[in-house]
Amino acid sequence: MMPTVPKLSLTGLRKSFNIKGASLPVLNGIDISVASGGFLSVIGPSGCGKTTVFNIIAGLLEPDDGVIEVDGVAVENLRGRVGYMMQKDLLFPWRTVLQNVLLGLELKKVPEAQAREMAMEFLNTYGLAGFENAYPRTLSGGMRQRVALIRTLISDPDILLLDEPFSALDYQTRLYLEGVLMEAVETHKKTVILVTHDIDEAVALSRHVTVLSGRPTQVKANYSIDIQERTPIGARSDPRFSEYFHALCGELDIQTRRKAA
Ligand SMILES: Nc1ncnc2c1ncn2[C@@H]1O[C@H](COP(=O)(O)OP(=O)(O)OP(=O)(O)O)[C@@H](O)[C@H]1O
Ligand SMILES: [Mg+2]
Repeated sequence: MMPTVPKLSLTGLRKSFNIKGASLPVLNGIDISVASGGFLSVIGPSGCGKTTVFNIIAGLLEPDDGVIEVDGVAVENLRGRVGYMMQKDLLFPWRTVLQNVLLGLELKKVPEAQAREMAMEFLNTYGLAGFENAYPRTLSGGMRQRVALIRTLISDPDILLLDEPFSALDYQTRLYLEGVLMEAVETHKKTVILVTHDIDEAVALSRHVTVLSGRPTQVKANYSIDIQERTPIGARSDPRFSEYFHALCGELDIQTRRKAA
């Protein structure tokens, strides 16, 4: 069988930052790839360069070296072609919910009436009908994350980059939004890369997990997650769930069992 071409691949990605005249090597030759319609989680210690990888893919930063390919074709970056849900500064505080959601469609020059209709439909689906004229500061954390997720999905990019989208939320809201995300991804056939600190989120949502080392960062391990159940709670109830969870904790040197006295 012919090997399938990944939807997105990064090969030999390198990046150092200059800080006060000294060079800080961050990415030290990273290879990451995700199949079309795939769901990849990237985990690794804080400061190892996960957001940097996303910023490079999205064209906000230039790599020192490395190749980015989409469907097997080398590209400089994916500026304007990915849905990027950033780790911080999710919503513009001076724009209402509706105006925030419409942003992606304004950039794509979708006619206003059509854009509003699409936005209202998304807001309805995500339980935000009635909040379209509210400002972000008046919403709960979970509602703000939903607005940001809608803004990422509405311009219909093939590839989603999600940088810790649920890290600030309580567990119940997180489980709910993970379900919302999985449904959206399956309905709209997206290819997803998710950065998360949460190992159980990585196992529950992904088909593949890439583990990064500390700086200077390389890929430490790649896992395939063979769990059929695709709902956040169903996946966590699978007998194999804790096996993957412990293996990934081990990769990150997190102790999950009490040491013998
Ligand atoms: N624009 C920049 N200029 C200088 N240094 C930077 C810049 N962006 C990131 N860095 C440095 O690069 C390293 C990696 O940062 P990055 O934000 O990519 O880490 P991360 O893996 O996303 O961390 P976290 O899990 O805490 O979000 C850090 O040491 C950070 O200080
Ligand atoms: Mg980060």
